[in-house]
Amino acid sequence: MAAVADNRPARLVVLISGRGRNLDAILRAIDAGTLHAEVVLVASNRIRAEGLQKARLAGLNVVSISPKEFADRESYDAALAKRIAAAQPDWIVLAGFMRVLSDAFVARFAGRIVNIHPSLLPKYKGLHTHQRALDAGDAEHGASVHFVTPTLDDGPVIRQGRIRITEQDTADSLADRVMAQIEQRLYAAALDDLVSGRVVWQDDGVYRDGRRQTQPLVTDYD
Ligand code: GRF
Repeated sequence: MAAVADNRPARLVVLISGRGRNLDAILRAIDAGTLHAEVVLVASNRIRAEGLQKARLAGLNVVSISPKEFADRESYDAALAKRIAAAQPDWIVLAGFMRVLSDAFVARFAGRIVNIHPSLLPKYKGLHTHQRALDAGDAEHGASVHFVTPTLDDGPVIRQGRIRITEQDTADSLADRVMAQIEQRLYAAALDDLVSGRVVWQDDGVYRDGRRQTQPLVTDYD
């Protein structure tokens, strides 16, 4: 997927399950003019997600689809995909969406789904990333924005943000710092890479400014 053709704002569908702090940061970047995009739909698997309420108050188009109403992951994902496709997105932005997407869903929007994960991938895929970084005695921790493939937290990385772990850090303080210092800036920067066409994912890897990215771009945020 390249930059949008006629310089119109990129159409983003944002998927959330929780507080929606990443969604907030994306909306702020759009308002500030640093991200040429519009959020055309916010979708959630949790009817009571705090972020959904905030999105509603902000006047955004929202939809919640509860998995309880579906027999299996495939039928849930098919319903979700239908709503998303109707919004005609350029990009599908997973922002704290706590569900694994089926292969069929990923294939339908191949190359157009991105995710933010709170670790320096490929380290610590899955849950409890902050505690795992502490347990391992890591000196640094961070977050990654990556393209989504059918394997969880596994697609090519677009950008990473990094901070130093301090002796005082607990899993909670680290989670707060990764959110406040990194995630609040990283997603908008990575989306800007994509909507501007500076970063493209081709068969043999991720290209930044025409050059194949052998290492993800890492920014230090402390
Ligand atoms: C973030 O830490 C994100 O990296 C993770 O879930 C959290 C979502 O928080 N996947 P929020 O809903 O954006 O506030």
